[in-house]
Amino acid sequence: MSDPILTVEDLTVSYGRVHAVRGVSFTVPRGGLVTLVGANGAGKSSIINAVSGVVRPSGGRITFDGRDVTRTPAHKLVSAGLVQVPEGRQILATMTIEENLQLGAWHTSGARTGEVYDRFPVLAERRKLPAGSLSGGEQQMLAIGRALVAEPTLMLLDEPSMGLAPKVVDEVFKVIEDIRAGGTSVLLVEQNARRALRAADHGYVLSSGEVVRSGPADELLADEGIVAAYLGLERD
Ligand SMILES: Nc1ncnc2c1ncn2[C@@H]1O[C@H](COP(=O)(O)OP(=O)(O)O)[C@@H](O)[C@H]1O
Ligand SMILES: [Mg+2]
Repeated sequence: MSDPILTVEDLTVSYGRVHAVRGVSFTVPRGGLVTLVGANGAGKSSIINAVSGVVRPSGGRITFDGRDVTRTPAHKLVSAGLVQVPEGRQILATMTIEENLQLGAWHTSGARTGEVYDRFPVLAERRKLPAGSLSGGEQQMLAIGRALVAEPTLMLLDEPSMGLAPKVVDEVFKVIEDIRAGGTSVLLVEQNARRALRAADHGYVLSSGEVVRSGPADELLADEGIVAAYLGLERD
């Protein structure tokens, strides 16, 4: 078996006296889809932001593609193929859809832009319009498209289903599974645990900054107690 694309060992993230992540370890196999699930405040975004170089860890080690990247800044990680789709989409509402995609492709030739337009025809049709004119689901597709044009080998997604109607959530999860089927490794963090575990191979349950359970996603799904004990309100 080849090395995992991502290994996180004993990660801690603190904001002053708030210890948001406490000794978290997990791996993403090459080509795998791994999910970290947990309620609001469990530490999901802190982990994603530490892995993507947006937040500096206070301890632990992060290895991406065989290299120690614990202190590597975000822009270098993006160039290396580690690309985040942030919580709340973070698209630039007054810029056009096309401009948002160009921003994602700042370090590449933008060769995959056509592929993104093929995958999401609505983005192609409205490419000259402000991104803020898109619906919530379409904005999530744009955020994912912006990550795809950056040519990721590992895509991190932070609660892509947040605030979306169930039918749109289905579409977003279909896109994520397609991306993985295309060979991109995926780390997905979600409050929508059931949906995320259905898509993933392997899952980790987070509570108060710690991993409390982990295992094959289907085993976690079959364990009714986990959702009840750790995941709070389920939308699905
Ligand atoms: N910038 C910050 N400053 C202080 N506390 C923060 C900051 N970001 C997150 N936290 C705290 O860290 C904990 C984990 O937050 P977060 O990683 O955003 O969790 P999640 O994404 O699972 O909702 C929470 O208690 C949150 O209030
Ligand atoms: Mg979060």
